[in-house]
Amino acid sequence: MKNFTSVYDIDNLQEIIAKALKIKENPLENPTKGKGKTIGLVFLNSSLRTRLSSQIAAQNLGLNVLTLNAAQEAWNLEFADGTVMNGDTVEHIKDAIEVLNQYCDIIAVRCFAGMKSKEDDVNESILSQFLKHAKVPVISLESATRHPLQSLADCITITENWTGNRKPKVVLTWAPHIKPIAQAVGNSFTEWMQQMDVDFVIANPEGYDLDKNFTKDAKVIHNQDEALKDADFVYVKNWSSFEDYATMSKVEENWMLTNEKLELTNNGKVMHCLPVRRNLELSDEVMDGENSIIYQQAKNRIFSAQAVFSEILDDLN
Ligand code: CP
Repeated sequence: MKNFTSVYDIDNLQEIIAKALKIKENPLENPTKGKGKTIGLVFLNSSLRTRLSSQIAAQNLGLNVLTLNAAQEAWNLEFADGTVMNGDTVEHIKDAIEVLNQYCDIIAVRCFAGMKSKEDDVNESILSQFLKHAKVPVISLESATRHPLQSLADCITITENWTGNRKPKVVLTWAPHIKPIAQAVGNSFTEWMQQMDVDFVIANPEGYDLDKNFTKDAKVIHNQDEALKDADFVYVKNWSSFEDYATMSKVEENWMLTNEKLELTNNGKVMHCLPVRRNLELSDEVMDGENSIIYQQAKNRIFSAQAVFSEILDDLN
């Protein structure tokens, strides 16, 4: 694997899920695979799970880990080409990436949507600079439009929780929030579910349809109760409007997932990428209830990252 920024960088999804589940059985099976190599984890945005699970995964493989919380600890970065840098920005992203090339064998970066320019976000204005200037493999730790390590962890979690002999019904349901949130997790989950052997449905209010480039021919239902009927997995996530970009229109119905709504499902397992706003996106009773597999999903972030780092190392060695 050269880079990892979307499901399209994976040759065989079932094989990498199986690999991750094998790693989960014995995470320290290859403790020297990354010996002498360095991974730089560059965070332009906040993180708990991605930072820590990536560090654990890298350490399990014997990689040296450099973590840069760039927004807080590095120089203020300039992203536009040709700018006269006589303002607040101190270092151009091109120069920062060239320096990372000198220190790292793999560069992993978190660069959220700016939520100001739809064009910049759709075109991955920051990730594309890493892909352009990096001379080593690039891994996305969540970009403007996708969160592939999360989505792989989601696929692992669904696989290990499904014992039925039919396709599971998986519902991605929109949830309320107090501020506009990017569509990256919803887009990415949709893209990966389309590669899984599942019956996939997206439920969101009118005005909140995801980008058609991601949903393609996925079933989209604007009535949450109808969508939840007989679901085996319910993935809860907020996102802002894509059409009226990065805005939130008022939603009259209550889309928070509760135990009452969960009764419509086939004893559905509940997923969320975290962090979650309790009693806004889903209720305490759901979060703490026996159908929640949310912490298991968070644990699987380690094995998702370790499987990907391992494949990248295979092509480095
Ligand atoms: N799910 C996820 O990516 O969590 P963090 O934002 O805390 O890394």
